[in-house]
Amino acid sequence: MKRKVSLLIPVLILLGILFLRPRWFLNLTKRVEISPASGAALVEKYNCRQCHQIDGKGALKAPSLDGIAQRLDQETLRLWLANPRKIKANTAMPNFSLSDSEIDAIIEYLTQLKEE
Ligand code: HEC
Repeated sequence: MKRKVSLLIPVLILLGILFLRPRWFLNLTKRVEISPASGAALVEKYNCRQCHQIDGKGALKAPSLDGIAQRLDQETLRLWLANPRKIKANTAMPNFSLSDSEIDAIIEYLTQLKEE
């Protein structure tokens, strides 16, 4: 009985980490190269164009992200990617559980885009 309980604790901790996915865990498991090219690949991977227009292509269910880096300061842009609900509680923008390097790469890519 005692042995079962001592096994249960690490299993619960593991499940907790997998479920809550804290930032350090994301940074450990989703480390990407920080470059505009890897940012462009992430925009494809997470299908941002399903809602946003980016580089002239994509849906217009959400604001166009062309020239976004000129419109938003770095901190706000970062927060939109890290935790959209912290900016706007009822937003339709999903939280993609992005790691810090993924956020940096996406910002590098978006920063290159000019207003159409
Ligand atoms: C399901 C639709 C959807 C998807 C997919 C989506 N977004 Fe959004 N996003 C939104 C909506 C809606 C808003 C506007 C939020 C609001 O005002 O409530 C938004 C807002 C933003 C903003 C702030 C825009 C501004 O003008 O202030 C940024 C930056 C952003 N999204 C980036 C991204 C990136 C990068 C991705 C892909 C990783 C992505 N979004 C995927 C729906 C989406």
